[in-house]
Amino acid sequence: MDQKKFYITTPIYYPSDKLHIGHTYCTVATDAMARYKRLQGYNVKFLTGTDEHGQKIELKAKEAGVTPQQFVDNIVEGPKGVKDLWKLMNISYDRFIRTTDDYHVAAIQKIFKKMYEKGDIYKGTYKGKYCTPCESFWTESQLVNGCCPDCGRPVVDAEEEAYFFRLSKYADRVRDLLVNTDFLLPRSRVNEMVHNFIDPGLEDLCVSRTSFKWGIPVDFDPKHVVYVWIDALFNYTTALGFMNDKYPDSDYETFWPADVHFIGKEIVRFHSIIWPAMLMSMDMPLPKHVYGHGWLLLDGGKMSKSKGNVVDPYLLAERYSADALRYFLLRDFPFGSDGNFSNELLINRINMDLANDLGNLLSRTTAMADKYFGGTLPTDQAEGPEDAALLEKVGGLRARYEADMEAYAFQNALADVFEVIDNANKYIDATAPWVLAKNEDTKPRLARVLYNLAETLRVCTVLLQPFMPDTCEKIFAQLGVDDSLKTWDSAAAVGSMPANATLHKGENIFPRIDTAKELVELEALEAAQKAAAQAANAPAEEPKAEAAAASAELIGDHEAEISFDDFCKVELRVAEVRACERMKESKKLLHLTVFDGERERCILSGIAKWFAPEDLIGKKIGIVANLAPRPMMKGKYVSEGMIFAADTDVDGGCSIAFFPDSTPAGARIH
Ligand code: MSP
Repeated sequence: MDQKKFYITTPIYYPSDKLHIGHTYCTVATDAMARYKRLQGYNVKFLTGTDEHGQKIELKAKEAGVTPQQFVDNIVEGPKGVKDLWKLMNISYDRFIRTTDDYHVAAIQKIFKKMYEKGDIYKGTYKGKYCTPCESFWTESQLVNGCCPDCGRPVVDAEEEAYFFRLSKYADRVRDLLVNTDFLLPRSRVNEMVHNFIDPGLEDLCVSRTSFKWGIPVDFDPKHVVYVWIDALFNYTTALGFMNDKYPDSDYETFWPADVHFIGKEIVRFHSIIWPAMLMSMDMPLPKHVYGHGWLLLDGGKMSKSKGNVVDPYLLAERYSADALRYFLLRDFPFGSDGNFSNELLINRINMDLANDLGNLLSRTTAMADKYFGGTLPTDQAEGPEDAALLEKVGGLRARYEADMEAYAFQNALADVFEVIDNANKYIDATAPWVLAKNEDTKPRLARVLYNLAETLRVCTVLLQPFMPDTCEKIFAQLGVDDSLKTWDSAAAVGSMPANATLHKGENIFPRIDTAKELVELEALEAAQKAAAQAANAPAEEPKAEAAAASAELIGDHEAEISFDDFCKVELRVAEVRACERMKESKKLLHLTVFDGERERCILSGIAKWFAPEDLIGKKIGIVANLAPRPMMKGKYVSEGMIFAADTDVDGGCSIAFFPDSTPAGARIH
């Protein structure tokens, strides 16, 4: 019989900066799924890579004074680059695609031409609102108060020649795909796509650009470069040899369509509307599933380099091990939803699950086998009343785990395994091996207890392999099992270990971490890293800007001039006060929860002397929305903005600017 195949992909990452923990999260999840399918005996192809074209990269390279190719080469292949990170995280990808690879470039040109020849790509005129300083086109609906959403400056009507893809032609088929099949997962993402994008009417998509050069030229009209999303999405097929000679066509035949694309929720639109429509145009089969996972948030907001609030996976993996980080990411955050990252959660999870539950079970089991039997269990063993419940749990574990893995519910699959580990620890307490060891007559019972513990650990370890591959090898070594006892089949065959198993007392796999001390050290390390990064990125005139800011503070109320460009950097927005409370920690401060049009954020404001919470709740206020988040009260709170308030008299009165209720939260203030 043919071996079953499984093709899984990550998004291809923009190498515009070093990758952070959010990118790592998606890749680790994909890796766990790929390893799980390999464990089940599938012929797996796991693809990842980098999406290297586009204006942003062109600009970044210019800022860095290097060519775009040099820029991306450094981020992808250079020290602590993308490939280094995946090595550190033990990512078992089979193929790595870079969209600047020659074979991909040539294939994209052919694909573009094919859709053009079919009539699905046509030349037209792109009309839009153009921001000259940003060199960007915007649609009417993207403008904020009629101005450029990026810099806030006025835009002008402009048009340019461009190629368009007939997305509208495929609207009905795509709608049907989303509504009537399980193509897009989790199901909760379908409504948003259908109601926000398809039902209002899908417009044809502009698929070429002439305003920058760093892209794949349209070969029959080279002043145009191919829109970066077309270039990017087809990576999933060019990496299998589609329309190129780098890889054999047979890979495409074997592995396409993909079983699942794992992607983050903000790129679901591209993968669930544009991607299937283009595949339909090319008469290619559609991927079986697209899974849009949630984001890892920091202090409630999305991580981004530009906000300076990213978590460095290198630091964490080097400090706690890749396996601990992998485990934490997939255990703590339900895959389909957003989750708030914190160092404290990470350390608690390592201590609770890995050091206490798993680590202790292993060290207690191997230490007792060593102490009472010199490592090798005697074959004379006696069952006892405590055994049935544990063995039943272990016996059903693989099926429960499989159901969760098939639903991409990694957190539940891990919870299943750790429930059994917990049962095993309780089984030790219930059977009290140290009491059994005191009497020769109860030694057979002792041997059985230790055998059951070793067998429970073995089955759990088989199933933990996709998540913590290195650790599992260490555990297997301590359990003394050979390869035949590490397989998927063996996880459903409880009692497979030989009765006279030899266990080896070994190193402590996850030493306990002193949480309080560690948090302080981590914070200091992260602050040092951030300062170093800021110093390295600071433009030459930064000291001047700092000096200007300092002198502005000194001058107090009086005007210190700033340039228009500096002013444009300040993001002033209308926010709705959703909640407001006095704080037990401070008489001066109010704790506001405001909605900024996209998300809720916390702002601590020193206005408690003049305003009661009920004066503010439901009101529309102005905030500075892009202030760096500021930890307050020893880090217990993080204030994410400032509200507009005016000093009203010499002894310190205060008033607040309220906007009319009809002003939408998120509206930009100019
Ligand atoms: N290049 C495109 C993808 C093209 S795929 C044909 C892209 N790149 S990206 O680098 O910006 O993002 C890659 C992936 O990282 C996205 O799926 C995105 O959701 C994910 N993440 C980036 N930050 C994240 C978090 N904070 N949390 C979880 N994943 C997030 O988009």
